[in-house]
This record gives sequence, C-alpha cells and structure tokens, in this order.
Amino acid sequence: MASPEHRPALAALHGLLAELVADKRRRPQDDLLSALVAVRDQEDGRLSEEELVGTAMMLVVAGHESTVNLLGNSVLALLQHPDQLRLLRERPELLPGAVEEFLRHDTSVERSTSRYAARDLELGGVSIPRGSMISVALGSAGQDAPQLDGDAPAVLDVTRPGARHLAFGHGIHYCLGAPLARLETAIALRILLSRVRELELAVPLDSLEWIGSGIIRGVLSLPVRYRVG
Ligand code: HEM
Repeated sequence: MASPEHRPALAALHGLLAELVADKRRRPQDDLLSALVAVRDQEDGRLSEEELVGTAMMLVVAGHESTVNLLGNSVLALLQHPDQLRLLRERPELLPGAVEEFLRHDTSVERSTSRYAARDLELGGVSIPRGSMISVALGSAGQDAPQLDGDAPAVLDVTRPGARHLAFGHGIHYCLGAPLARLETAIALRILLSRVRELELAVPLDSLEWIGSGIIRGVLSLPVRYRVG
C-alpha cells in the first residue's frame, strides 16, 4: 500500500502509462506494449484495461528500480575493491561473469514478494504453520559461505566462475527481465569504465544513506570523484 506522500506520484505514473497505452492503440509499433494492447483488444477476457496498465506499471517499477540499484551497488563494490575495478577496466570481456558476481555480492532486490505456506512445514528447524506469510531473503543466499569455496562472502572476485545466487528468484516467478537486466548492467559498466578514469568515492563510506524499503537495496545517492578520458 502506498504511503500518502507517494500516492500522487503513483497516480501520475498511472496516468502517464494510460496515455501511453492509448497512444500505442492509435499507432501500434513493434514493441511489448503494442503487443499487450493487441491481446487486450481481442476482448477474450484474458487482459482487462486495468491489468494492461498495471502490467505496464509493474514493468516500469520492477524493471527500473531493480536495475538502477544493481548498477549503483556494483559501482560501490568496485570502488571498495580498486583491484577488481582495474581488472575489469583492463579486461571488459569479464563483464558478463562480473555481473553474476555483483548479483551475488550485493543484489538490489533483497527479499522476494510474499508467499503463503500451503501446508504446515518445517524449514531449517523452524516450524511454519499453514497460511503463514513467508518472504525469502534472496540477498543473503549469495552470502552463503559454504557455496564460496572457502572465500569470505564479502570478497568481490569478478573472475569467480559461475557465481551462484538467487538474485532473480526461482521457479514460476523467476524474473521476467533477467536477460535485460544482465545486459543493461554490463553495457552501463562497460561504458562507465571506458569513459571514466580515476573513479573514487567522494564521501566517507559510512555517510552513504541506504534506501529503507525492505525490498530494494541501494544507496539514495553515490557521490563520486572522477576524471574523463
Ligand atoms: C538487476 C535487476 C533485477 C533484479 C535483481 C530483479 C529481481 C527479481 C526477482 C527476485 C523477482 C522474483 C520475485 C519473487 O519471486 O517474489 C523478479 C520478478 C520479476 N521481474 Fe525482475 N529483477 C530485475 C530486473 C527486471 C527487469 C529489467 C524487468 C523488466 C523489464 C523485470 C521484471 C520482472 C517481472 C515482470 C517479474 C515478475 C515475474 C513473475 O511474477 O512471474 N525485472 N525480479
């Protein structure tokens, strides 16, 4: 449920997307939203107008906040590990694997959405009665020391082969945008590292403010000093 201060912003975003849907209906293009409008307009009940706008809204929220903050967390991790920053700058071909390591090391979606236990169960010695709400700590799965071949979870290693994580969830609700998020992060980091020299944190580490949503993990801003060229 949105807080009173967030409601007008949400309503404005909803209005903007409803306009975009109307525009795609008038002038369909070769894109996802036009395809969803076409499904809606077949009027077989598969998608209501509200669901159509809601899906567009979810794609913006799920696709934007998550990726922006993964990018921020990745840059912060590199600033704290200058040897890894140097390595990635010298060997950009390591980027796809490095993105997996960033997702393991400090992902941007800390928790899953809510699940409800369909039956009484026991997990790791904890009894969970039927009907209880469960949220999976996705971020902490990447910190599971036994999976890391003796490395401390805080160690960032952009050459780690097949870094294991649950950053995109698991099963039927596995992230729809995972390939896009991986690509966006790798492209953004490649451009940043190729254009910017002497990148460093411009404020003390402990003065960074973290988003307190409980689901999204990232800093509110990441002030850096840099030199272009
Ligand atoms: C680094 C970026 C991203 C991360 C860490 C991330 C993470 C996740 C996670 C953990 C879930 C599963 C949630 C659960 O099971 O409760 C999820 C679902 C989803 N994500 Fe992402 N996501 C990212 C980027 C994106 C992008 C770019 C898009 C789309 C443009 C997207 C669209 C979705 C959608 C539609 C779902 C719901 C899938 C379903 O319920 O069937 N995500 N994401």
